[in-house]
Amino acid sequence: MPLFNDHLTSSGPSNPFPGVRVLERRLGHEIPHQLGSNEGLDMPHSALRRHFGDDMAKHVYSYGDSEALGIRQRLVNQHGFALDELLVDAGCDSLLALVLRATCRSGDCVVATAGTYPTFAYFARGQGCQLIETRYDQTSPSLTHPERTGLAPDLAALADSASRQGARLVYLANPDNPSGHLHSDADITQLRAALPDDCWLLLDEAYNDFRLDAERPGANQAMAGVIRCRTLSKAHGLAGLRVGYAIAEPEVLAVLMKVRIHYAVSTLSQAAAEVVLDHPEETRDHITAVQHRRDTLIAQLESLGADVLPSATNFVALRLPSVELADRVHRDMLSAGRLIARAAHPDLGRLLRITALEDALSPGMLEPLERVL
Ligand SMILES: Cc1ncc(COP(=O)(O)O)c(C=O)c1O
Repeated sequence: MPLFNDHLTSSGPSNPFPGVRVLERRLGHEIPHQLGSNEGLDMPHSALRRHFGDDMAKHVYSYGDSEALGIRQRLVNQHGFALDELLVDAGCDSLLALVLRATCRSGDCVVATAGTYPTFAYFARGQGCQLIETRYDQTSPSLTHPERTGLAPDLAALADSASRQGARLVYLANPDNPSGHLHSDADITQLRAALPDDCWLLLDEAYNDFRLDAERPGANQAMAGVIRCRTLSKAHGLAGLRVGYAIAEPEVLAVLMKVRIHYAVSTLSQAAAEVVLDHPEETRDHITAVQHRRDTLIAQLESLGADVLPSATNFVALRLPSVELADRVHRDMLSAGRLIARAAHPDLGRLLRITALEDALSPGMLEPLERVL
């Protein structure tokens, strides 16, 4: 069993403010008169109402449901999650920080791929962890173009490094950002088996919804020794409201709940997420449109001779022949008022990343890039 911080393995700390919604559920009845809560419950909010309307104003008076039951229930009904295997927090980023806080002490070793989603490294270093980075596999043949090489987090290297360094946790984004690479479920199971028993696998599945097999069997289940993190920022378009969720075994989530910032997901964010989850057809249509645009963008760039990487996400990554050229194209695009992403890590200096937006497909939009292909 992977380890938690020592002080979290006995009882407590226990949250002093689980909140009114949790109390109502425990008591089995509503509490319409909150005479002991110190929020501005009787504020008229005229300015807010004028600006955003009455509907919005009603969501701002109270702290959010610390258990986010409404969101979790909707996820259960739509995707077959187990209710007690879900924990909601303020986006996938907050979950990464939360997992680090619950599992790693300052000085503990954690392992990730050099150049993958950099927020993990930022949080790990901020917590005083010793970050070991393994290289991307840039030598294996590409899955779609065997004459080219691919770009994939190297699972064997991650496992090997974790074993040699006695790591407390391994981070893997799957599908990966910025490569777009997808490892199969069998690969993930094999990685978990290759890790030391006391090492966590923190699986960042922020782009899971864009996988063609997003609803495959087992996709929405907890795995022993693994904490899976997802988000409503991408396929649900709610990045500004900060809603994400973790999938893990109930006893694991119980420890995370001990150190979670209990009101981190606001009442308004929860209400908005519930509305969006109540209209899954809109999300499904969006995902289909993104997948279509992604394929169109790949085909368009490949027809110009670009070295485009396969993507299971809502973006497309391509490799230019040199770091200098990638840098120049990035700057030329920016001068033209068009911001594309360029991987910050020196190992990935040739990589550019373009999101599969309608705007990216507008004729001439990528002209500074197309000029050099
Ligand atoms: C791999 C990965 N994880 C997490 C996030 C952040 O998600 P959230 O907005 O839910 O914090 C992103 C956003 O770009 C991402 O690419």
